[in-house]
Amino acid sequence: MNVLVTGGLGYIGSHAVLCLLKSGFDVTIADNLSNCDISVHKRLEELSDKPIKLYTTDVRASLSKIFEEDKIDAVIHFAALKAVGESIQKPLEYYDNNVYGAINLLETMSHYGVKSFVFSSSAVVYGDSGLPYREDAPVSAATNPYGQTKIMIENILQDLYRADNSWHIAILRYFNPIGAHESGKIGENPVGIPNNLMPYVAKVASGELKELSVFGGDYSTPDGTGIRDYIHVCDLAEGHIAALNYIANKTGAHTWNLGTGKGYSVLEIVNTFINITGVQLPYKVVARRAGDVPVSYCDPSKAQHELGWQATRTLTDMVKDTWHWERARTADERL
Ligand code: NAD
Ligand code: UD1
Repeated sequence: MNVLVTGGLGYIGSHAVLCLLKSGFDVTIADNLSNCDISVHKRLEELSDKPIKLYTTDVRASLSKIFEEDKIDAVIHFAALKAVGESIQKPLEYYDNNVYGAINLLETMSHYGVKSFVFSSSAVVYGDSGLPYREDAPVSAATNPYGQTKIMIENILQDLYRADNSWHIAILRYFNPIGAHESGKIGENPVGIPNNLMPYVAKVASGELKELSVFGGDYSTPDGTGIRDYIHVCDLAEGHIAALNYIANKTGAHTWNLGTGKGYSVLEIVNTFINITGVQLPYKVVARRAGDVPVSYCDPSKAQHELGWQATRTLTDMVKDTWHWERARTADERL
């Protein structure tokens, strides 16, 4: 089975590509290189010891060549812009890239009769629904264009299945992926100053950034800082294999949370990082970040029961692998 992975050189996509290859799938990647380093392609080939076909293309462009040259059986669609703050500044770019990109891809798939689709959605669709977040909770109106694009695409996918029930669709709502591949060869390396907690922590620990700002110390949580459901990116990647296997025999537009079901506070993350790595991690508590929910964690039982998947890696694994990757990356950059 050959899987087209859009955004396959990005953070989550690259880990999913390795997982797919390890599980016996063939992979074709389409990526426009807007938020990744081309060297990831070579690293994936080295790690898997397999050649991987790469199309350097935008998902908004004509994708016919890919479907004509390769026999594609299913698509995992990671390619998207994902910075919440930037989406507020540049809404048209986000709607165009994310929503139009998905529509163009789905139209092309439909044209070539490929009807198995796995979509990267996000916990952002829950807004402030009751905790833990369950897939049957009403999806709220997101407070930013990035979140809106995820809700819109989820709705498009539900409508698509209603109109043509030969589609096999998996909507995966990711919680907070962190960590890196155990090899230390691939991981998250955002361009510019990171928006998300773990890459920021890693860059403070390596001395690239001076100090972490902890956004809010006055939430009604045990230590006053925000709580999130962090999941190892390799567990998340494995969730995609489970979803692909499930939809192989079942039509429908199915939704699953991919998280651990356990929340950690910002200070728990910081202290675990300090304990495991032994490095200094200067931080100060500052005002809350606009748009943040105090607490977010999922009920992962639907994925457990239906997909037979559950996250197995611990917070210690997530921190160790993040630090291994950060040190390997910074050592490479010094060469
Ligand atoms: P990423 O930016 O590391 O990877 C996205 C990849 O897609 C990049 O390699 C980029 O070059 C490519 N890309 C972007 N727009 C494209 C386009 N129009 N055409 C072709 N390629 C394009 O992001 P990620 O963290 O790996 O996220 C992958 C997906 O998961 C995204 O859809 C994101 O919204 C979703 N998601 C991520 C998180 C997270 O915390 N990282 C959480 C929830 C959902
Ligand atoms: C953010 C996005 C969300 C997106 C998710 C994954 C916002 C408002 N939300 O979620 O839409 O799906 O990333 O890409 O941006 N924190 C700090 N200091 C920092 C960075 C973060 O204290 O420098 C705190 C945050 O306040 C939060 C926790 O760390 O409590 C996690 O933050 P982050 O990694 O940005 O993830 P989310 O807020 O869950």
